[in-house]
Amino acid sequence: MIANGGMHDQDLAQKLLSTGHADLISIGRAAIANPDFPNKILYGRETQRFVPEMIKPELTLTNTMEYFNKSLFFST
Ligand SMILES: Cc1cc2nc3c(=O)[nH]c(=O)nc-3n(C[C@H](O)[C@H](O)[C@H](O)COP(=O)(O)O)c2cc1C
Repeated sequence: MIANGGMHDQDLAQKLLSTGHADLISIGRAAIANPDFPNKILYGRETQRFVPEMIKPELTLTNTMEYFNKSLFFST
């Protein structure tokens, strides 16, 4: 079972996984806003909030990175 929608909420995602209500979680908008979302969660880094302007004029990594300062992504 894959839980989808709002799974960027760590407490909710963890609850669904730990109770067996979900086997996997999917991340949509949070992954667009944070291509390194799993690492940010793993290392406790601040995540960026999704805004529709990130995918204009179309959804590409380049456009999303141009929305932000590129240094925000893929840092270690
Ligand atoms: C830009 C964008 C494109 C999407 N395209 C599709 C799609 O082609 N097919 C689909 O089933 N869901 C699509 N979705 C929905 C996501 O897969 C997901 O169900 C939705 O964003 C809720 O998850 P989230 O709260 O993690 O964003 C899209 C969502 C976004 C933001």
